[in-house]
Amino acid sequence: MQQSSLFLNRNEFGDATNVGNLLSPAEAKAILDEWVKNDRLKIHMKQVAHLMKNYALDQGLNDLEVQKWYLAGLLHDADWDQWPEQHCRKIIEELENRAIDPEVIRAIASHGPRYFGVEPVSLMDKMLYAFDELSGFVHAYSLMRPEGYSGMEVKGVKKRLKDKTFAAQVSREDIQDASERAGIPVDELIFFVITHQAGADLS
Ligand SMILES: [Fe+2]
Ligand SMILES: [Fe+2]
Repeated sequence: MQQSSLFLNRNEFGDATNVGNLLSPAEAKAILDEWVKNDRLKIHMKQVAHLMKNYALDQGLNDLEVQKWYLAGLLHDADWDQWPEQHCRKIIEELENRAIDPEVIRAIASHGPRYFGVEPVSLMDKMLYAFDELSGFVHAYSLMRPEGYSGMEVKGVKKRLKDKTFAAQVSREDIQDASERAGIPVDELIFFVITHQAGADLS
C-alpha cells in the first residue's frame, strides 16, 4: 500500500511531564486567527470542538479533561488552511514546542489514521476521528435545508450519506471506520451531532 506523504512516522507525541498544560482560550484563539484565514474551516474546527466538549461532559469527565477534549477539537485542523502539505505535523510541533499536554497532541495526530498513520487509542482520539467528517457532513446538510438544523432527523442524514454526489469530499469510508473503532453505531453519532452542533459558539 502506498504510504501517504502526510504520514507522521512516529507514535509518541508530546512529553508526559506536560500533562495538564493547556493553552488559555486567548492563546488558542490567537493560533486560530493567525493560522486559519478560511472562515468555513474555522467554523468546522469550532463545531468539532463543541461536539468534543459536550461528549466529554456527557461522559462525566472533569473540567480539565473537558478542556482537553475541547482544545483537541478546536486545533485539529489548524495548519490545514495555509500548510496542507504539512497537515497535521505543523500544529503538532507547535503544541510540542509550547509544552502542551501529550494527550491533546496525540488526539490531533490520530484524527485521520489513513492519512497520518497514527492509530486512535484513547476515547478522546477515537471521538475526534468519529466527529471530524460527520460534523462537516451534517453542517453541509444543514446548509441545504431551509430550516437548517431544526427538525433534522437521523434518517435524513443517512439518506444523504447514501447519495455519493452530496458533499462528495466527505469520506463515507472514514465515517464507517471511525464508528467501528469507537464502538458507536453511525446512527448514534449522527444523533449526537444533530442534537449538539447547532449550539456551537461560532464567534
Ligand atoms: Fe484534518
Ligand atoms: Fe477536521
